[in-house]
Amino acid sequence: MRYAVERVRTGIPELDNALEGGIPKGSWVAVTGEPGTGKSILCIHYAYRGLIEGEPVIYVTTEAEFRDVVRQAKQFGLHLDDYEIFYLGSAPPAVKPQLVVIDIFSLLKKAKQISAAGGGRWHAALDIETLTAAIQDAYEVLGLTTGGRMSPRRHVRLIIDSLSAFWADKPAMARKYSYQLKIATHRENVTAVLVSQYAPTTGATFGYGLEHIADGVIHLWMDNVEEVKGVRRYLIIKKMRMTNHSLTAYRVRIEPGKGLSLEPLSGAE
Ligand SMILES: Nc1ncnc2c1ncn2[C@@H]1O[C@H](COP(=O)(O)OP(=O)(O)O)[C@@H](O)[C@H]1O
Ligand SMILES: [Mg+2]
Repeated sequence: MRYAVERVRTGIPELDNALEGGIPKGSWVAVTGEPGTGKSILCIHYAYRGLIEGEPVIYVTTEAEFRDVVRQAKQFGLHLDDYEIFYLGSAPPAVKPQLVVIDIFSLLKKAKQISAAGGGRWHAALDIETLTAAIQDAYEVLGLTTGGRMSPRRHVRLIIDSLSAFWADKPAMARKYSYQLKIATHRENVTAVLVSQYAPTTGATFGYGLEHIADGVIHLWMDNVEEVKGVRRYLIIKKMRMTNHSLTAYRVRIEPGKGLSLEPLSGAE
């Protein structure tokens, strides 16, 4: 048992089955794909599963207001607001939160704070340094650090939707920034799901880099909508360290009241 790999369930049962029970604990998993393929919904399932299991969740949202994330989740019967939510940068919470949101406002506030403290070096909300500082604050708010060190016991789920936002204007920096972020915030008890956006039509990523430092890559895509005249979504586990995993693609379904589920491709086995 000493070398047994602990698993973190994603909240999507078929995906967990495809991963021998879940993502190996402590992994950094990139979720890649073009718009509308289901990346954000996958993040919502992952967050909600954590809350159900009583684990602290850190949710970085750059693409949508968290209020809209909560609304979207409700359509799938995932009630994020049943849990104690704290927006980083707002007045200190009365009770210990279960979910810490880092949104654009949190990042703006943090950027101002570190710019003021940093001897004149200016930081933007979407700087990787700002993000790193905000995540470290979230670890503290959740009571996971003592004397700056992480408690080894509690497992934390970190979601960043999306990480591409932090290098949107400088895609060549993607690899360096991903590395910098991983060094600063990776802990063995933090399992991260990080969204990387791919451009529609070309399928090219906005800065290839995250995939290189990731322990896992879950890729989502859709058929050419003009050709097939419809939206057909797929998911494949391209890479996952420390585990055996399914090597074939799945059809992705997104349904009201249920959310994202996977079906094996017929005849693909
Ligand atoms: N309530 C719903 N019922 C069914 N499908 C939905 C519902 N809400 C959103 N969707 C589908 O999910 C898609 C968005 O998925 P999302 O995870 O936000 O994509 P992205 O990869 O861009 O993050 C929408 O384009 C729509 O097809
Ligand atoms: Mg999205």
